[in-house]
Amino acid sequence: MTDGDTTSASGAAPSGNASGARRFAAPKGVLEYVPPDSAAFEHVSRTLVAAADRAGYGLVELPVFEDTQLFARGVGESTDVVTKEMYTFADRGDRSVTLRPEGTAGVVRAVIEHGLDKAGLPVKVRYAGPLFRYERPQAGRYRQFYTVGAEAIGVDDPALDAEVIAMADEGFRALGLRDYTLELTSLGDAECRPAYRELLQDYLGKLPLDDATKARVEINPLRVLDDKRPDVRALVADAPLLLDHLSAASQEHHVAVKQHLDDLGIAYKENPRLVRGLDYYTKTTFEFVHPGLGAQSAIGGGGHYDGLMSLLGGDDLAGIGYGIGVDRVLLACRAEGVAPWSTARVEVFGVPLGEAARRRLVLVAAELRRAGVRVDLAYGGRSMKAGMKSADRSGARFALVLGDRDLEGGTVGLKDLGSGAQDTVALDTVVAELVTRLS
Ligand code: HAM
Repeated sequence: MTDGDTTSASGAAPSGNASGARRFAAPKGVLEYVPPDSAAFEHVSRTLVAAADRAGYGLVELPVFEDTQLFARGVGESTDVVTKEMYTFADRGDRSVTLRPEGTAGVVRAVIEHGLDKAGLPVKVRYAGPLFRYERPQAGRYRQFYTVGAEAIGVDDPALDAEVIAMADEGFRALGLRDYTLELTSLGDAECRPAYRELLQDYLGKLPLDDATKARVEINPLRVLDDKRPDVRALVADAPLLLDHLSAASQEHHVAVKQHLDDLGIAYKENPRLVRGLDYYTKTTFEFVHPGLGAQSAIGGGGHYDGLMSLLGGDDLAGIGYGIGVDRVLLACRAEGVAPWSTARVEVFGVPLGEAARRRLVLVAAELRRAGVRVDLAYGGRSMKAGMKSADRSGARFALVLGDRDLEGGTVGLKDLGSGAQDTVALDTVVAELVTRLS
C-alpha cells in the first residue's frame, strides 16, 4: 500500500529520472492494486458480486460523482461522512458535486429517476466500485476504497432482509472466510424512534458528560451509546436501549428476521448498541466484523431504510441493502490465511528461439487464446534461459519451446513447469493437446 505523500506505489521516493523529470506518487490514503496482488483483489470483488448475482440482483453502473445535496440529504446532514469526509467541489459549471462517499443514495436516486420501481417490486440491484471519504488513513481505512453493494427496494419483508444478509455471508464463505461475526440489531421505525430518542436524551442529559458529548446527545444521541472511551462507556452502561422500546411492528419484523437467519443457519450476535455512520437506517441493521483487522473491523454492513425513497422524492417504499469493503475483505483473507485466488497470469507461456519460430508461436498463441486458453510469449528475441525464467514467473502450467529446427520437423517442445516433464508434440495438434491437458 502507498499511504504517504512521499512514497510511490513501489515504496521508492518520487525523486525523478536521469533527465530530471518529476516522478509522481498516488494520492495520500489511496490503496492501489497492481499485479500480482491485483489478482486477489479481482477475485474477492468477483466472488462477492457473484453471490448477489445468484440471487437475481442486476448490475447498476452509476456516476462516481453526484449532486452534493443528494448525499447531504440522503446520508444525513449531521453525520461525519457529510460534515467532515466528503470530497466536494464546484465543477466548471459552478455546480457543487461530490465524489460518492457511499452507494445507497445514488442507487435510490437512479431507481426514482428511471422509474425502476414502476416495473415490478422489489427492485434488486448490485454495484461495485470506488467510494471516497476524506478520513485519516490507516490500515483498513482509505480515502478511496472499494465496495460491492446490493439493494432491494420496494418490498418490506423480513425474508428479504434475511436474503440480503445471507448473500453477504455467502460471499464471505465462498472466499473461505470463517472467523467473522454478524452483529445485528433493529433501529426501529417512525413510530418508536422519536419517543425512544426523547427517553435517551433525558437519560443522557442527566449524566456528567463533557461538552462535546453533550452536544452529540442533542444531534445524535444513539451515537453516544457507541462511544469507545471507557469512562463514557461506564457512564452510559445502563442507558435505555432501543431494542427494548421497539414498536410492535418493528419487534415482529425483527423476530421474523432472526427466525429466517436461524433457519438458514447463519449465526448472529445481537448488538443493541450497534450504530452506523449513516442516518437512513430503520429496523434491521447489521455489520459483519472480523477480528483480524484491528480497529477497522467492519468488513461489511447495511440495513433497512424505510424513509429514504420518499426523502429523495420517490414513492414511500422500503429498502434493504449492504455495502462490503473489498479492501478489508482482502485483509481478512490474509489474516485467516485463505488465498483462493490464482496469481498465475497465464496458463501457457511460449518461448520462441529464432525468427521463424517466433512467427509460428505468435500464431499458436492466437489460436490458443481463441480456444479460451490464457497465453503469453517471450518477446524481444531473448535467450532460452531468459525465456524460461519469464515462463516460470508468469505462473504458467506449460511452456512451449519452439526452435527453428523443431519447426522444420513440425514439432514443438511442451514442458510441464510443475513436474518438469518434457514432451515433443506435433505443432498441428498442440492446441488440442493443451486444451485437453488444461481441462
Ligand atoms: P458503510 O458501512 O459506511 O455502509 O460502508 C460499507 C463498508 O465499506 C464498510 O463495512 C467497510 O467494510 C467499508 N469501508 C467504509 N469506509 C472505509 C474506508 N475508509 N476504507 C476502507 N473501507 C471502508 C455504506 O456505505 C452503506 N451504503 C451500506 C448499505 C447499503 N446500507 C444499505 N445499503
